[in-house]
Amino acid sequence: MRIDIITIHPELLKSPFEHSILKRAIEKKVVEVNLIDLRDYTTYKHNQVDDYAFGGGAGMVLMIEPIANCLKALKEKNTYDEIIYTSPDGELLQQSTCNYFSTLKNIIVLCGHYKGVDERVREHFVTKEISIGDYVLSGGELAAAVLCDGIIRLLPGVLNDETSALTDSFQDDLLAPPVYTRPAEYNGWKVPDILTSGHTANIEKWRHEKSLERTKERRPELYNKYGKK
Ligand code: ADE
Repeated sequence: MRIDIITIHPELLKSPFEHSILKRAIEKKVVEVNLIDLRDYTTYKHNQVDDYAFGGGAGMVLMIEPIANCLKALKEKNTYDEIIYTSPDGELLQQSTCNYFSTLKNIIVLCGHYKGVDERVREHFVTKEISIGDYVLSGGELAAAVLCDGIIRLLPGVLNDETSALTDSFQDDLLAPPVYTRPAEYNGWKVPDILTSGHTANIEKWRHEKSLERTKERRPELYNKYGKK
């Protein structure tokens, strides 16, 4: 998979790809991530990429021209399955969205910005708009990092244990069960006996029950959705 991220803060986005699972995925060439500086594509003086909104109001808006230039240059070299724009008014990111994106070959992620982007970019270039939650971040870069992490960890060969992404919270609309590790007792607090019993079938049953319990308690809307399946 190839992910081209268009941003005015490439430095801000470096670190998430330089550690742990994402770093390994890149080293294994399962994914190629390119950080593209939008300022390299402007023809305005002083590398300007944003301007005041027509009609007034506070905040700067990303201009269409640098984005169009950048997209044109990228599209000359690759074809893209989706051009994703990160914005608080996009579609809420879900596990199912990550699953879908992880099946694609090439995507572009355009990071949003203060007051947004010229609406014509959204109308004519963007194919999906993604929000990572109902809160406003200072820019779309951290949202892009969250999105990419959610996608890349699903790519075949990225996680060591082939089944571990499948047993994540949300993969089956249930939250994950509690997990424990050594020591089996700390400060008088004991790990549930069943987990140290060695009885695999009972452990699986216990985990499923705990998943149901936890989902019902914490996310009743997910629990109801699960019940209807
Ligand atoms: N940019 C600013 N806030 C955001 C959010 N919640 N999701 C995606 N992009 C954003």
